[in-house]
Amino acid sequence: MHLEVVADDAALGRVGAERILQARADGALQVLGVATGGTPASTYRELARRADGRLADVRLAALDEYVGLPADHPGSYTTFVRRNIAEPLGIPPEHVAVPRATAHDLEAAAALFEQQVRDAGGVDLQILGIGANGHIGFNEPGSQADSRTRAVTLAERTRQDNARFFDSPDEVPREALTQGISTIMQARSILLLASGSRKADALACAMEQPPSADCPASWLQRHPHVLVVADRAAAAALSRQSLSSLRA
Ligand code: F6R
Repeated sequence: MHLEVVADDAALGRVGAERILQARADGALQVLGVATGGTPASTYRELARRADGRLADVRLAALDEYVGLPADHPGSYTTFVRRNIAEPLGIPPEHVAVPRATAHDLEAAAALFEQQVRDAGGVDLQILGIGANGHIGFNEPGSQADSRTRAVTLAERTRQDNARFFDSPDEVPREALTQGISTIMQARSILLLASGSRKADALACAMEQPPSADCPASWLQRHPHVLVVADRAAAAALSRQSLSSLRA
């Protein structure tokens, strides 16, 4: 895993957007895997400001969606992807794949989502955030390396952390449909973004503990092309050895 440490969230947004635009300029970006939530928001804002139509024919694949939340709910990830990524970049709705977590048959919805991503040619660049408990997507601790897209139960800590996106903590769904670890690992390259001191311990376990289901993000150590961009606060618990690999 390569590491780049930047000053703050604004710098994270600039570097994140640059990486995505560079991949596009290199001809290496047809399908962009998108995380939602707070961390990548600055990256998507920068992209919207700078893309100038260059990403309009990229396809988007979301990482996850809450089970049971209507797609047009303000807290759904379908809404997040439409408002913050697809619409600002001029990407039409038919080029956006989000796991359909309102489906009666979640197993079939998971299989359909994986098929959609395969049909699109697979994810070229996957943007990831990291949960304070080390989750990626909604692969909570206990998620194995061979897991695929599936319905999962959210950890209480994750529900509490995400309560800020809902009117009340009780409204946070208890389940989600998420890409699995093995699904995420199929992306050709991965950009993991981390900001703020609440992520410091999770980032340290992801980069420095032996890969294990206790810290699902640590499975990323087995991927050949991962760039971690962290602000100083998120990088604060990393060892000198990780920091000595700095590219910039
Ligand atoms: C979002 C996702 C999650 C978030 C993680 C961090 O689609 O899959 O793994 O990336 O929970 O969330 P924030 O960035 O809000 O701290």
